[in-house]
Amino acid sequence: MEKKIALIPGDGIGPDIIKQGVRVLDAVAKKCGHVFNYETVLAGGCAIDKFDNPLPKESLDTCLAADSVLLGAVGGPKWDDVPSNKRPEKALLGLRAGMKVFANLRPAVMFKQLSAACPLKDEIVGEGLDILIVRELTGGIYFGDRGRNADNTEAFDTERYNVSEIERILKIGFESAMKRQKKMCVVDKANILESSRLWREVANKMHKDYPEVVLDFLYVDNAAMQLVRNPRQFDVIATSNMFGDILSDEASQVTGSIGMLASASLGDGTGPGLYEPIHGSAPDIAGKNLANPLATILSCAMMLRFDFKMEKEALMIEKAVDTVLDEGWRTGDIAGSDIDAIKAAGKLVGTDKMGDLVINAL
Ligand code: IPM
Ligand code: MG
Repeated sequence: MEKKIALIPGDGIGPDIIKQGVRVLDAVAKKCGHVFNYETVLAGGCAIDKFDNPLPKESLDTCLAADSVLLGAVGGPKWDDVPSNKRPEKALLGLRAGMKVFANLRPAVMFKQLSAACPLKDEIVGEGLDILIVRELTGGIYFGDRGRNADNTEAFDTERYNVSEIERILKIGFESAMKRQKKMCVVDKANILESSRLWREVANKMHKDYPEVVLDFLYVDNAAMQLVRNPRQFDVIATSNMFGDILSDEASQVTGSIGMLASASLGDGTGPGLYEPIHGSAPDIAGKNLANPLATILSCAMMLRFDFKMEKEALMIEKAVDTVLDEGWRTGDIAGSDIDAIKAAGKLVGTDKMGDLVINAL
């Protein structure tokens, strides 16, 4: 198959890790008889520097014309003081809205080889963690009306959801649960928020179409607590934009594998998805061959699975990453307290070498 992929390296370590993602994609393409063509576009801080605009129209257009989009990371302290309508984060929100990718899938998995990095006690994590957070991504308070009053003494933001927005995200939640442990927890604040009560109504109605899925609900404050108290109770968590933003950070930290976690943002299937590692742009180590490319490489696997329906190829990448970890190779961020021993064994590697290792293990 021939596919066109838009690349958004972005800022900080973005270019370092995207490079490795592309190398791995090309290696897979070669092995399996595909051709991937790439077009690199500017978005984020680098686009502010060049065009005074975090997401130039041509960048979005190139993404929309592609079969899939791979993003590294955007932002950094350099742009902390630019006006809010021009911050690098605007590029992310603009891409999500422009590409209509309303469902953000964030798997929070603990890699067994990295279990020492998990901050929770062994008896809490047991055999490991595997949670899928399904976050609504183009609605709610991040996109609702906001503003200030005339004399700047009051500000407001609005949480608003309609039934079809809730249905399309919960459909992805239910369908994901069917492929997993068949459990879905909808996280909300239905004891206070009217929009949450609508989420519950819609979820209960839709449940009739997915009778095999065990559906339950948690208030977000309780869910935040349960994620550290007993994270193994969760399979799929489906939630609104803001709650998903917060809980997905918590869940990823709980796994101890934050440098390893991928994500996919999907629309209704008629356009490209957006794939990115969940870690940030880490400007302090940018360009130093230190960044861990594995979350990006695993995001490429999600791209192959969801956008290109190349399940075999996706598994190939995931298995290769597993092999490399089994063999003890580590970048600095996942070396943990064993770092000296890993270094002494010659297994502490940089960005490029980690890419090489995955390619060799394919
Ligand atoms: C994320 C990030 C973004 C978000 C920011 C950078 C706008 O935190 O992808 O979770 O809040 O969605
Ligand atoms: Mg976030």
